[in-house]
Amino acid sequence: MADQERSEEMAKTRNSSRETQESFTPSFFQQPIHPGSAISAADFSVAEVRRILESADVLEKEDPLRRMKRLAKRRVALLFYESSTRTRTSFELAAKALGADTTLVSSLSSSIEKGESLKDTGITLKALGAECVILRSPYSGAPYLLARATGLPVLNAGDGMAEHPSQALLDLRTILQFLEMRAGKLSEKTLRGVTVTICGDILHSRVARSNALLLPRLGAKVVFCGPVELLPESAVGLGPGTVIERDFETALRESQIVMMLRIQAERLAGLQLDLDEYRRRYQANGERIAAHAPRAAILHPGPIIRGMEITSEVADGPQSAIAAQVHNGVPVRMALVARALKGGGR
Ligand code: CP
Repeated sequence: MADQERSEEMAKTRNSSRETQESFTPSFFQQPIHPGSAISAADFSVAEVRRILESADVLEKEDPLRRMKRLAKRRVALLFYESSTRTRTSFELAAKALGADTTLVSSLSSSIEKGESLKDTGITLKALGAECVILRSPYSGAPYLLARATGLPVLNAGDGMAEHPSQALLDLRTILQFLEMRAGKLSEKTLRGVTVTICGDILHSRVARSNALLLPRLGAKVVFCGPVELLPESAVGLGPGTVIERDFETALRESQIVMMLRIQAERLAGLQLDLDEYRRRYQANGERIAAHAPRAAILHPGPIIRGMEITSEVADGPQSAIAAQVHNGVPVRMALVARALKGGGR
């Protein structure tokens, strides 16, 4: 193990053990979660999802100077313990577009490196005036800890293998746009008759989990597809109406929406995969998509690994909605930040 990796591992161990010993007293679990938080896709009622997406529409169209007044000089902290391009940038642009001041704290350039716990980092950010924290963490459940420790609204920007609710919301906005449906009409029946196949590394995917918790409640059928190493049978219980299909081409034939996932090499922890066999069975390539899903929208939360789960021909092709997903990150996250700080948007 290289020195850099070893010191990162040590920092993680220090953090997690401190958190365990010091933070989890019985009274800690009585602390309320701020209602402006967005930690799990399961927390949102269908009406709430509709309000968030309507708010995203309003904020996206609003005059930028007027929009800047909504959260003028409010303080939003971005606390990132894991790397990110799309989520971090879009949350930051979203908060700034609403007029908020933002600050980024990342694990490799802060006192987290010296072993400061998540709880103490959160308390410190609050003392510095942060009114909302956007958190990405390699630890599942970390947003709950931060929300209880600070009392602030916490927006989950991805926690371990657990959830990525803002991604599921922007995926939903992308799906509605593709199907030419309006957010204002969103109900439990909106996606009835729509099949969404999510293919790839389901086991390690917080995106798959959040989508499986959200989309079936709007009527969609969610099909998980992948080899047993990346998709255990137990995944079927992740969301209401979720099913497993091991044969990608069978899944493609019934899908209006196909979401490809990257193999998360950083979380495989010794799991061996035959990558040539994986590509042969599960890659979204031009020939396969043309033959089995010629009218489906192809989504991917990113980062994409070209030539592995998806080819350039598909990622850059006419069916790709990947750029639309990235674009939708800013309006959806504006709505979440505005909701957290009661900045309106409806
Ligand atoms: N979709 C997503 O979470 O991408 P980033 O890791 O770049 O934020």
